[in-house]
Amino acid sequence: MRLIRTLFIAAAGALAAVGFASAAGEYRKPEPFTFSFDGPFGTFDRGAMQRGFYVYQQICAACHSLEHLAIRHLGQRGGPFHDPAYPNPNDNPVVRAIAAEYIVEDGPDEFGEMFERPGRPSDRFPSPYANEQQGRAANNGAYPPDLSIITRARHYGAPYLRSLMLGYGEEAPDYIDLRPGLYYNPYFPGGLIAMPPQFEDGLLEYADGTEATAEQMAYDLTVFLHWASDPHMEQRKQLGLMVMLYLLILCGLLYATYRQIWRKVEH
Ligand code: HEC
Repeated sequence: MRLIRTLFIAAAGALAAVGFASAAGEYRKPEPFTFSFDGPFGTFDRGAMQRGFYVYQQICAACHSLEHLAIRHLGQRGGPFHDPAYPNPNDNPVVRAIAAEYIVEDGPDEFGEMFERPGRPSDRFPSPYANEQQGRAANNGAYPPDLSIITRARHYGAPYLRSLMLGYGEEAPDYIDLRPGLYYNPYFPGGLIAMPPQFEDGLLEYADGTEATAEQMAYDLTVFLHWASDPHMEQRKQLGLMVMLYLLILCGLLYATYRQIWRKVEH
């Protein structure tokens, strides 16, 4: 009797947990998408990274920080503006020009005052808000999260980010209570997001002549932010490949040694 009761309570608990989870976190799976960086040999599309950085700068930087990245990271090996002529990204003129566009708070000076100066490659990307409270106050109480590791910090990573950015515009189902300041986006857990839609065709003009459709911007931005989340991915995959090659050769050598040692032994 006791056993049956325990089993019954356990089953009811499990059902309640499942029901609660699906009610709280109902969302649509991201659209499947193949990126150039997928798979063991995948690499980043450099043009897309550069355009994606431009999208971040022009649109997202108004609300989202990128605080784990320093400006010089853009010019490091594997970065969007890496130039082999400048192994030290601090010397890279493109990176220096990007840094100089920012105004950075520095100090204190000899009078104890903080002052502003043009950015340097060694600076981190300045945040749009002084602190989280200010960020919330500017966005109806919702805090725009830092984007430096966003594709690693979300389930489904890069495809999620792409789908989320393109996921606006559908009619919300009846059971969703669309309050002012919230937008329906089926890819966001719960379906209601405090971020307004960001992309529409032709919103930006790319320097390389690529047509800035919403689709293209979402792709470029996702490539850039995935690089930001995992800046050493290419080197890591290269190293992994070398290690596999080394192990393969070692395997052959060991087998040859084994044959040699046991050559005269009956076994
Ligand atoms: C007007 C301000 C604003 C702009 C501009 C903006 N966002 Fe947001 N974003 C927000 C807010 C507010 C949230 C928090 C939403 C929430 O919690 O409901 C958010 C949340 C997000 C999230 C987190 C979603 C999650 O799963 O938690 C991502 C990713 C994101 N934004 C990406 C971007 C990108 C990429 C851009 C540039 C193309 C951008 N945002 C531009 C305000 C903005």
